[in-house]
Amino acid sequence: MANDAVDHGRRRFLTATTAVVGGAGALCAAVPFIKTWEPSARARSAGAPVVADISKIEPGQMVKFQWRGMPVFVVNRTPAQLAALKGVDARLRDPESDNTDQQPAFAKNEFRAQKDKPQWLVVIGLCTHLGCVPQFFGELKPEPFDPNWQGGFYCPCHKSRYDLSGRVFAGVPAPANLKVPPYKFLPDGNHILIGVSPEGAA
Ligand code: FES
Repeated sequence: MANDAVDHGRRRFLTATTAVVGGAGALCAAVPFIKTWEPSARARSAGAPVVADISKIEPGQMVKFQWRGMPVFVVNRTPAQLAALKGVDARLRDPESDNTDQQPAFAKNEFRAQKDKPQWLVVIGLCTHLGCVPQFFGELKPEPFDPNWQGGFYCPCHKSRYDLSGRVFAGVPAPANLKVPPYKFLPDGNHILIGVSPEGAA
């Protein structure tokens, strides 16, 4: 009878051990699978696309996102802000966005935006001079750094200015327009995918 008691005890121990090993094995099998569709923080900083929710960005407002460790500015421009852009062309270094390094082909137009959604500006928020993060001044009103300001970005490091399409002014240290990253709108219209161009666009 004593042996029976020992055997039962050992069987219970073995059953419990097997269950624990089985559970650990199942976890080990599940983790690599999850990692294939959830990019790690390292993958995201290395360049995985980022989904940005733009549904709460009010007209005239700018919101900052992160992609590849860089700030990305998304601005919902008002009709008045879009109309003001034409008036600053003569003050800019590259008003036609001829420097093709600074935007994908789909954004080489007067608004530097996707043609059917001209109100949305998406640019990398790093000054093209030495990489400071410019500040957003969206209002069409005189500012201390420019009495004829029509909205845009001001870099406090060495006073470079960009308009509301991220086009650089002539006569400032920054040599080029703010860079437009590849991006596309998701079908719901409330999100953009930063890091992927729209199908068919370069
Ligand atoms: S880094 Fe912006 S002006 Fe120098």
